Amino acid sequence: MKKVVVANDHGAVELSKSIVEHLIARGYTVNHLGVYAADSVDYPDMAAQACGEYLAGGYEFGVVCCGTGIGISISANKIDGIRCALPQNMFAASMAKSHNNANFIAFGGRIEYQEPVLEMLDAYIDSPFEGGRHATRVNKIMSLEGGTC
Ligand code: RB5
Repeated sequence: MKKVVVANDHGAVELSKSIVEHLIARGYTVNHLGVYAADSVDYPDMAAQACGEYLAGGYEFGVVCCGTGIGISISANKIDGIRCALPQNMFAASMAKSHNNANFIAFGGRIEYQEPVLEMLDAYIDSPFEGGRHATRVNKIMSLEGGTC
């Protein structure tokens, strides 16, 4: 299933373009929902579109980007079934898959990362989920959906 859904707001147009090109070069079919221009949009709307598309099925994972990656990752994580990671480096990106089995990854187009975003993305893609005790914990994450403290 080499298909990825990508969405971004106006704060990550160029970053998302580079991510889409990188994914295509890696052999993925990419459904890029936009946006493609600097005109202002609301990142929760883009997160909702991407997550809805992912949940419809057929996708390996999703990528969402905004200026910081924060707003769009918070938005994605409000949607049942979504585990969106916002990694700060390659180690965190790798762990997002191997320990958390994140099905979305977020980046910020206005962030000066210390490690290249495309290498973080590769670290995420190339890290298999370890399962075992991590599956137990991921199941506990998902059981928190709709809950109250
Ligand atoms: C948009 O100006 C900006 O707030 C958004 O891209 C993102 O950084 C929010 O978390």
